[in-house]
Amino acid sequence: MKIGLASDHGGYNLKTEIINYLKEKNIEVVDFGTNSDKESVDYPIYGEKVANAVINKDVDYGIVCCGTGIGISLAANKVPGIRCAVVSDVFSAKMSKAHNNANMLSLGERVLGKGLALEIVDAWLSADFEGDRHLKRVNMLSEIEYKYTKEEK
Ligand code: RB5
Repeated sequence: MKIGLASDHGGYNLKTEIINYLKEKNIEVVDFGTNSDKESVDYPIYGEKVANAVINKDVDYGIVCCGTGIGISLAANKVPGIRCAVVSDVFSAKMSKAHNNANMLSLGERVLGKGLALEIVDAWLSADFEGDRHLKRVNMLSEIEYKYTKEEK
């Protein structure tokens, strides 16, 4: 399994903790930046980078971090085909994969402690999409996306 990660300055330290944790577990990671918590950068750039890698299948899943997890998830979710869940608890982490087939996870460094954040990552990575009635609903998300993308053109 290969995971793409990125953050803005507000999520940099959490991203680093997650990268180290995944490497310890022998999970391959691709780091799309940013590279410091000192320089203020724009979260949309980093959300899009990982989303693009997921859609192009350069990585299997994406994990992004910013101060709250919100801004960078909004950016990722603008990329068609991305289902990026902002999560702050273990139950929602499991459900975001089991029911929503989330292909990206977003976490807030200013929201979560390291221990909980890593538990969330574990829960999300080890959960499986249940398909069945949930597949129909996930497909409905794609239909909404298609409808509005088409109308814009
Ligand atoms: C940066 O200060 C902060 O706004 C950003 O990390 C994030 O929380 C936005 O949603």
